[in-house]
Amino acid sequence: MILQIQPIFLSLLLLPVLLLLSAEEAAAAGTISPGSTLYASDTTKTWPSPSSAFSLGFLPQSSASFIAAIFYSGGVPAIWTVGSTPVDSAASLQFLSNGNLRLLNGTGQTVWESGTAGAGVTSASLSDSGELVLLGNGTDPVWSSFQHPTDTVVPFQNFTAGMVLRSGFYSFRLENATGNRTLRWNDTIIYYNQGLNSSFDSNLTLASPSLGIQNIGIVSIYDPKLPVGGAFVAYSNDYAENRDTLRYLRLADDGNLRIYSSDKGSGTSVIRWAAVEDQCQVFGYCGNLGICSYNDTSPICECPSQNFELVDPKDSRKGCKRKVETEDCPGNATMLDMENTLFLTYPPETESQIFSIGISGCRSNCLVSSTCDASTSLSDGTGMCYLKTPGFISGYQSPALPSTSYVKVCSPVVSNPPPSAQVVGKSSGLRMHPWVVALVVIGPILVLVVVEGSFWWWCCRNSPKFGGLSAQYALLEYASGAPVQFTYKELQRATKGFREKLGEGGFGAVYRGILTNKTVVAVKQLEGIEQGEKQFRMEVATISSTHHLNLVRLIGFCSEGRHRLLVYEFMKNGSLDNFLFPLEESEKVLNWEYRFNVALGTARGITYLHEECRDCIVHCDIKPENILLDENYAAKVSDFGLAKLINQKDHRYRTLTSVRGTRGYLAPEWLANLPITSKSDIYSYGMVLLEIVSGRRNFEVSAETNRKKFSVWAYEEFEKGNVKGILDRRLVDQEVDMEQVARAIQVSFWCTQEQPSQRPMMGKVVQMLEGITEIEKPPAPKAMVEGFNGTSMNVSSNTSALSTIAASAPAPSSSSSSQTAGTSLHASGKNIERASSSLLRSSPY
Ligand SMILES: *[C@@H]1O[C@H](CO)[C@@H](O)[C@H](O)[C@H]1NC(C)=O
Ligand SMILES: *[C@@H]1O[C@H](CO)[C@@H](O)[C@H](O)[C@H]1NC(C)=O
Ligand SMILES: *[C@@H]1O[C@H](CO)[C@@H](O)[C@H](O)[C@H]1NC(C)=O
Ligand SMILES: *[C@@H]1O[C@H](CO)[C@@H](O)[C@H](O)[C@H]1NC(C)=O
Ligand SMILES: *[C@@H]1O[C@H](CO)[C@@H](O)[C@H](O)[C@H]1NC(C)=O
Ligand SMILES: *[C@@H]1O[C@H](CO)[C@@H](O)[C@H](O)[C@H]1NC(C)=O
Ligand SMILES: *[C@@H]1O[C@H](CO)[C@@H](O)[C@H](O)[C@H]1NC(C)=O
Ligand SMILES: *[C@@H]1O[C@H](CO)[C@@H](O)[C@H](O)[C@H]1NC(C)=O
Ligand SMILES: *[C@@H]1O[C@H](CO)[C@@H](O)[C@H](O)[C@H]1NC(C)=O
Ligand SMILES: *[C@@H]1O[C@H](CO)[C@@H](O)[C@H](O)[C@H]1NC(C)=O
Repeated sequence: MILQIQPIFLSLLLLPVLLLLSAEEAAAAGTISPGSTLYASDTTKTWPSPSSAFSLGFLPQSSASFIAAIFYSGGVPAIWTVGSTPVDSAASLQFLSNGNLRLLNGTGQTVWESGTAGAGVTSASLSDSGELVLLGNGTDPVWSSFQHPTDTVVPFQNFTAGMVLRSGFYSFRLENATGNRTLRWNDTIIYYNQGLNSSFDSNLTLASPSLGIQNIGIVSIYDPKLPVGGAFVAYSNDYAENRDTLRYLRLADDGNLRIYSSDKGSGTSVIRWAAVEDQCQVFGYCGNLGICSYNDTSPICECPSQNFELVDPKDSRKGCKRKVETEDCPGNATMLDMENTLFLTYPPETESQIFSIGISGCRSNCLVSSTCDASTSLSDGTGMCYLKTPGFISGYQSPALPSTSYVKVCSPVVSNPPPSAQVVGKSSGLRMHPWVVALVVIGPILVLVVVEGSFWWWCCRNSPKFGGLSAQYALLEYASGAPVQFTYKELQRATKGFREKLGEGGFGAVYRGILTNKTVVAVKQLEGIEQGEKQFRMEVATISSTHHLNLVRLIGFCSEGRHRLLVYEFMKNGSLDNFLFPLEESEKVLNWEYRFNVALGTARGITYLHEECRDCIVHCDIKPENILLDENYAAKVSDFGLAKLINQKDHRYRTLTSVRGTRGYLAPEWLANLPITSKSDIYSYGMVLLEIVSGRRNFEVSAETNRKKFSVWAYEEFEKGNVKGILDRRLVDQEVDMEQVARAIQVSFWCTQEQPSQRPMMGKVVQMLEGITEIEKPPAPKAMVEGFNGTSMNVSSNTSALSTIAASAPAPSSSSSSQTAGTSLHASGKNIERASSSLLRSSPY
C-alpha cells in the first residue's frame, strides 16, 4: 500500500520488487494482472485462488525439473498442467501485458502459450474451482483452462464432446452422438468404450453431450435429451462421504481413467474408481512386446522370454525388443509358446485379424507368414485365432486366461523361469533386477539346478519321496491350457481366509475368491483325498485340458501338504436349480427361449465330454446343481472329472446311503451296481431335461400327480397328448414354442429309458433337440430291471420305494447350489465301459 502511495519515485528504484509485490497483492484477490511473472526457481510464489483452495505455480518434479500447474492445496494433485513437458529451474511463467500467457524454459524459448495476444485480454484470474480464465471486457472469458483440459476433470468443469484428455500415448474422449466414453491408445486402438446404462434407449442420439463430476463423487453425462440431473455413469466409492475433499477424474499415465479423492491439505490422492478394472487390459501398458501380469499386489511388466530384452532397463513399461531381429535369421525363426497369454486385440484391429483355425494352425500359419509377428489362439471353445502383424503388440499373461499365444523369435528359444515359480512369487527377488541378477548370478545357478534336478529325477523318480518332481514333469506334457499352480497362501488371500462360502459338497466346500488380477473365481477345497501328488496333478491336467463353451473352466489348483484345492472360473448366475425350483415365488423365471438354450448347451457340453475330447469323461453326476449359468444365462457344466480323485478304499464314498440326495438323477444301473457308461449320463440328462421343461423335480410326488413320481406321471400325460400339462405353470402365459417343448419332452423320455442301449448317444440328443433328426414316439421309460444280472435290487419298477426315499431325502436347497463338488468319473480313451460304480461317492447333501 505504501508503495502505491509514492509510486513514481519508488517504482523506478525498486522496479523488480514492485512487480513481485503487486503480483502477490493482486493474486490475493484471485486475479492476476498483466505483467506478472512466476519463476521456477521460487516455488513458494504462486497465484492462488481467492480462498487459496487452488494455486497456479511451479511444482518440482525432481531436483532439476518442474511443471507449471494449477494444483489443489497441499501441492498435490496438479489438475491442469501448462505445456506437456517439464521445464528446468530457470523457467518462468509470464502473463504479458498484451494478454498472452506463456511458459519460457531456461534458454528463453517458448514452451507453451495461450495464444491470446491482442485478443483484448485485460486480466486473468484463478477461481476457487480451479479454473484459470483470461478475461476481456465481455462476460465470457477469452480463454479458460477448463476449455483446454490436460488430463483431469474437476467439479464445475464442463468436459464436452470434442475435448480430449491426454496422458502419454493415451487419450480419453466423450463421443459426440452416443455419449459413449472411450479410452484409446495412440488415438486409434479403443480399449474402453462404455455407453449409457441399459435404462436408456440404445438408439438415443444426444445433441451436445457433456461430462462432469460432482464434488460428492458422481460422474454424469448431461444433454438436453437426457433427464435434467444427467445420466450417472460412475460413482466414487467414497461417494458423498467427506465434504472437504476434492474428487476428480483423471486419465493417468498408465492409461486408466480413475476417480481420485484428495483431502484438503493432505497432499495425497486415493483411487476411488477405475474405468478399466483389470489394468493389464489397458492396451500398451507394458509397451511393445511387453507382457503384463500380476505379482501379489500390482501389475508388472516382463519380456516374453530371454530372446528379448527391455528397451529401457530402468523402466519395464517401455517394452521389449528382440535380441536378434527375425529378419536377421532367415529360415531359422520359430514360435515361442506362451501359455495363458493373450495379445490384446481391440477395435479397429479386431476384424482384420481374427481367423477361425485350430491351435496348431494358429501357431504354424503365423510362423510361415512373413506378415505375422505373433498370434493368439483362444481356448475358450470358439477356436478363434488372432494373427498380429508387425507393429505394436501388447501382451497379458494370467492363470485365468483361456488362451495360448505365440511370438516369432530366432531359434533357439530361451524361456523365462517357469510361470509357476513366478505365480507363487518365489522369484520376486529375481524380478526386481532381472537383467543384472539373472545374467550374472541366477543363470549359472539355474543351469546347475536343472542339471541336478534332472539327475535326481532320472535316478529317483520311482521313489515316492520325489513324486512331486516327476509329477511336475508329467504336467508339462499338457502344453495347452496348463493349469496354474497356486500356493495355499495365495488362495487363502484370494478367498479372504475362505470366508464367502458358495456351497458345500461331498468333496468339501466351495468359496468365492478374487485373484490379484481381479478375476473372480470359485475355489473348491477338496476333502477326503489322500491320493498321491502325481496322480492328482495328472487328473488336474486332464480336467484343465478340457475346453468347451459349455464346460466350466478349471483355472488352477493347489497341492500343498494335505491341501488339495481346485480353482474354477466363477459363474455369476449360480446354478440351474435356483431358477427351476425357486424358494420364493418372486424369484426370477427363465423364459422358454433361455431354458431351451440351457438344455442344448448342456447337451453340447456333455457331448464334448463323451465324444469329442481327448480323454473321454463320464460325468456321473449330472443334475441342475451342477449346471451353472454365466452372465448371459448360457449353460456351463461343472464338476466333471473328479471321481478319480476319491480315495477308493474309503467306504464313505461307496455306500448307497451316501448318494440319496442325487438319487433322482442316477441311472438304474448305478443302484444295481452295474458298470457305469456314458449312457448313465444320458439318463441323468433326460431327468434334467424334463425338469427344465416342467420346473419340477422328477422325483416330486404330490396330489396333483396322483401320488406318482412326477416323471412317471409326466409320461402318462404325454401319452394322453397333454404336453401343456407338463410344461412349467410359470411359462403358460408366455410365448412358448410348443413344438420345441414337445421335442424336448420326447427326448427326455428317450434318455430315461431303463435299458442303457435304448438311450441315444449325446450327439444324437443334440440333433434331436435341434430338430435335425426325426424323433420317434418314445416307449414308456418304466421297464423291468430283469435284464440286469447279479442283483436283486429291483429299483425303478418300484416307484413307491423310490418316491419314499426321494421324499425323505432333504430337498436340495439352493444354498447348496453352485459349484459344489459332485461325482464324476473319468475313463480314458474308448475304455469308458471299464469304469465301475465302485467310484460312487457321497452326494453334496
Ligand atoms: C527449451 O525449449 C526448447 C523448445 O521446446 C528446447 O528445444 C530446449 O531444449 C529447451 N531447453 C531447456 C534447457 O529445457
Ligand atoms: C470491449 O468493449 C468495447 C466497447 O464496449 C468494444 O468495442 C470492444 O470490441 C470490446 N473488446 C472485446 C475484445 O470484446
Ligand atoms: C457444457 O458446455 C456446453 C457447451 O458449451 C453447454 O451446452 C452445456 O450446457 C454445458 N453443460 C453444463 C452442465 O454446464
Ligand atoms: C457433434 O455433432 C453435431 C451434430 O451432428 C455437430 O454439429 C457437432 O459439430 C459435433 N461435435 C463434434 C465435437 O464433433
Ligand atoms: C501411432 O499412430 C501413428 C499414426 O496413426 C503411427 O504412425 C505410429 O507409428 C503409431 N505409434 C506407435 C508407437 O505405433
Ligand atoms: C457405446 O458403448 C456400448 C457399450 O456400453 C457399445 O455396445 C456400443 O457399441 C458403443 N457405441 C459406439 C458407437 O461405439
Ligand atoms: C434401434 O434402431 C434399429 C434400426 O435403426 C431398430 O431396429 C431397433 O429396434 C432400435 N432399437 C430401439 C431400442 O429402439
Ligand atoms: C442408469 O442410469 C440412471 C440415470 O442416471 C439411474 O437412475 C439408474 O439407476 C441406472 N441404472 C442402472 C441399472 O444402473
Ligand atoms: C509387486 O510389484 C510392485 C511393482 O513392481 C512392487 O512394488 C511390489 O513390491 C511387488 N510385490 C511383490 C510381493 O513382489
Ligand atoms: C539355426 O539355428 C541353429 C541353432 O541355433 C543353428 O545350429 C543353425 O546353424 C541355424 N541355421 C541357420 C540356417 O542359420
